[in-house]
Amino acid sequence: MGKVPILFRYPGGKFYALKLLSEFWNAVPHGEYREPFVGGGSVFFAKQKVETNWLNDLDEELITTYKNVKSPRSRKKLIASFKNEVANKERWREVFESETKDDYEVAKKYYYLNRTSFSGKLVSPAWGYREKRSLPPERWHERLGPCGEKLKDVKLTSLDFEKVIKAKSDKEVLLFVDPPYFKPKKKKHYRHGFTSEDHIRLASTLKLTKHKFFLTYEDCEEVRELYKWANIHEVKFFYRVDNSNIENGSRKMGFELIITNYEIPKTTLF
Ligand SMILES: C[S@@+](CC[C@H](N)C(=O)[O-])C[C@H]1O[C@@H](n2cnc3c(N)ncnc32)[C@H](O)[C@@H]1O
Repeated sequence: MGKVPILFRYPGGKFYALKLLSEFWNAVPHGEYREPFVGGGSVFFAKQKVETNWLNDLDEELITTYKNVKSPRSRKKLIASFKNEVANKERWREVFESETKDDYEVAKKYYYLNRTSFSGKLVSPAWGYREKRSLPPERWHERLGPCGEKLKDVKLTSLDFEKVIKAKSDKEVLLFVDPPYFKPKKKKHYRHGFTSEDHIRLASTLKLTKHKFFLTYEDCEEVRELYKWANIHEVKFFYRVDNSNIENGSRKMGFELIITNYEIPKTTLF
């Protein structure tokens, strides 16, 4: 896996676990790949594309931003406008309070706030750009360029996860499922909350699917109970405590479950 371009700063991003997760996506030949909860898309950007690729998230503004980064015309406009952009608290407030009149403006506002708000969080966002540590606007093209190219021909939707999991295909489908945590430690991270009923609905949808899936969750009793019919892999890895600075943040040990409905070959990674 070469250097992975990081488009967004996103709570719950899986950058720290990519090597481990690659064992799971490499274990299944597939002609179609889907992410029903794409968020920042760390796995999609790290993984080789296959014939058909489908990214989905209920957050419409996030998907509108992906669509504008995908479109060569809008991407060019975004890159040109960020070349002359500034990151300071006054400008942040101005952008935060600005009205948007079309999808391009939604994307431009979303991307600016994602890059300059604390941890990239857009629910009750706070100014969070750090001089010398955050990527300056004139360099945002380094992310928009390669990530936009990779999005070529990728299907982008803003639907509830059930539709994406249930959709049929004439190819072998692999799903990477990264739902919000069962017991989130912090207050609301995402615009669309996930209830206990949603977690139960996800488990029953996955139980019925003919597609292959790998699913990540925090390790807790409730999740183990919901997925006792599947293969549960316990994994531990280091993650950055401060995801606003992937390059230098301090590291903490984390425990998670990777749950699959297929076997994976023995690995030395966990
Ligand atoms: C844990 S994040 C995904 C993180 C991502 N895999 C990454 O690496 O950055 C979960 C995502 O689920 C989305 N979401 C919440 N409810 C949803 C639903 N019912 N259907 C689809 N997406 C939903 C949220 O908007 C959020 O982006």
